[in-house]
Amino acid sequence: MAASALMTMMLAAARKAGRSLSRDFGEVEHLQVSMKGPGNFVTAADRRAEQILYDELSKARHGYGFLMEESGAVEGPDKSHRWIIDPLDGTTNFLHSIPHFAISIALQREGELVAGLIYNPANHDLFTAEKGKGAFFNDRRIRVAARAKLEDAVIVTGIPHRGKGGHEDYLTKLAELMRSVAGVRRSGSAALDLAWTAAGRYDGYWEDDIQAWDVAAGIVILREAGGFVSDMRGGKAMLEGGGIIAGNELMHRSLKKLVAG
Ligand code: IPD
Ligand code: CA
Ligand code: CA
Repeated sequence: MAASALMTMMLAAARKAGRSLSRDFGEVEHLQVSMKGPGNFVTAADRRAEQILYDELSKARHGYGFLMEESGAVEGPDKSHRWIIDPLDGTTNFLHSIPHFAISIALQREGELVAGLIYNPANHDLFTAEKGKGAFFNDRRIRVAARAKLEDAVIVTGIPHRGKGGHEDYLTKLAELMRSVAGVRRSGSAALDLAWTAAGRYDGYWEDDIQAWDVAAGIVILREAGGFVSDMRGGKAMLEGGGIIAGNELMHRSLKKLVAG
């Protein structure tokens, strides 16, 4: 299916920011060996990518608002539209030269998520969706996996790192899950976790304490791939810090029973 004008424009912005991230990713590999490490360099890479996305999207669509990980909320005169952006999801991977990270761009219209794009500049994997038009991996239509039983499922999750709370609670839930599924993965990019679940690679995804920019684009893509998504209580507060549970309808329900709360 030919991409819409909106998606073509989002993709142009993502590719431009992606070229900047790719150049910086090459640099990071050299910095690994220095004593100081690439920490500050990666923060700058992240900001550069965000600035490119902001400039390109504002040029193409005047007045839309923004919610960005690094710069926060920027109000626009157009109150109906808002971009939700993570310029670099998977920072820890990027910092360690692991080529699993992504740019995530979502568009909200009247508060509703209507378009999502997730692009990994390291391998050019591209996941896109617009409300009502299906979800795509590059040019191919994608759907969530059909697996119905937890015992056959590979579930991806986000492990709370140092500095985040809730480690004990997380481990209790993980222990429950480990006893029930075929395998558990931790990839380090929430955006790609949702995209890969949408593409049927993972059967489900769960993470608590997650931000709007981590999941907004992925939610559109997952829903358009036939997936179900809720917050940790089965509600709709995924963009308000309520955490996220995702999968096909049955997987979502089973996963919710195990990890909700
Ligand atoms: C992080 C990644 C990670 C998730 C964390 C996020 P960042 O985003 O998505 O997979 O577990 O909760 O903060 O910091 O790499 O943009
Ligand atoms: Ca993120
Ligand atoms: Ca980020």
